[in-house]
Amino acid sequence: MRKWITPSHVEGDASRQAHADLPDGTYEREMSKEGFFGPAAFLHHKRPPTGWVDFEGPLRPRAFNLARLDHSLESPWAAPVVLHNKATELRFWRLDKAMTNLARNADGDQLLFIHQGRGDLYCDFGHIEIEPGDYVMAPRGTMWRLAPAEPFSILMIEATNSHYTLPDKGLVGNHAIFDPALFDAPKIDEKFKAHQAEDGETRVEVKKRGQVSVITYPYNPLDVVGWHGELSPVRMNIRHIRPLMSHRYHVPPSAHTTFLADRFVVCTFAPRPFESDPGALKVPFFHNNDDYDEVLFYHAGDFFSRDNIDAGMMTFHPSGFTHGPHPKALKNMLVQKKPATDEYAVMIDTRDPLDVGVGAEAVEFKAYVDSWKPKGE
Ligand SMILES: [Fe+2]
Repeated sequence: MRKWITPSHVEGDASRQAHADLPDGTYEREMSKEGFFGPAAFLHHKRPPTGWVDFEGPLRPRAFNLARLDHSLESPWAAPVVLHNKATELRFWRLDKAMTNLARNADGDQLLFIHQGRGDLYCDFGHIEIEPGDYVMAPRGTMWRLAPAEPFSILMIEATNSHYTLPDKGLVGNHAIFDPALFDAPKIDEKFKAHQAEDGETRVEVKKRGQVSVITYPYNPLDVVGWHGELSPVRMNIRHIRPLMSHRYHVPPSAHTTFLADRFVVCTFAPRPFESDPGALKVPFFHNNDDYDEVLFYHAGDFFSRDNIDAGMMTFHPSGFTHGPHPKALKNMLVQKKPATDEYAVMIDTRDPLDVGVGAEAVEFKAYVDSWKPKGE
């Protein structure tokens, strides 16, 4: 598709390069269509656009301490729903002991992000070991069970009635950021064969249209002796991700896209050097992401742009208001004390509005809306 040369408006006291060389003492806000891909405007404000003193009504930034959802549940389909819409369902699942039954998601591809814990995954395709920071993608219909060696805390992200695919990496090509060769598939190894040998009646909990049905076999149906093809569960650890960055430009979150579904994206924030160009922003820019609801799950590290956020928490920014750095981070807008970020986080941006599940409401951090208020020092 041709990308025509079209003029762009410049009005008043303005930079001509997004996220750089802002007029002195101003704060930039990006307002854009379709995430950061469509037409956009960059407005230079005299004050941070998060300077509200009150926020009333149903729309507001929210945060949930998912680490408090620590009640072990043997079935993934019993795990509390945190956020959901027609295109996705997010659950947070604590699993302390091996699943007795097999699980099968008939509603969509299932992505598991391993926040804590390690152990074994057995599925139709074989066995694979999993550890903290792993993404495990199980295509719709896969039968699987987990056996933790250390208790698992897992963020479950379902691509409802859809598929996980990879993003188009554009100018930098298919092997940048992460190489598809880093995806591992399950193997028919000795552990899998030992698991097959544990024969006997097996129940499969199938989730279809949000309801669970149970199919019972008089034997262990994970009994394949071999397979071939292009479709299988895959695993990749987030430490393998080499984030796209520029020393002269704060790249938008979309540059960190790891997986795509039809109506949402999954992005990974991994440690990266701060920009070094004197005029370039070193923190996320203020933005209205007016077409997407934004969800961020904090996995590990020092969350440089957020006050009062710890590992295991999730923030939810519905579209409709401007958000951006907290006051503490904003002080370092143009000069950072550290050479690099030190955070791992998983972002889910959805094209359709999300609803909050009962599970999330129970662990809400209600003061989050006030966390942009400047603290006296
Ligand atoms: Fe955002």
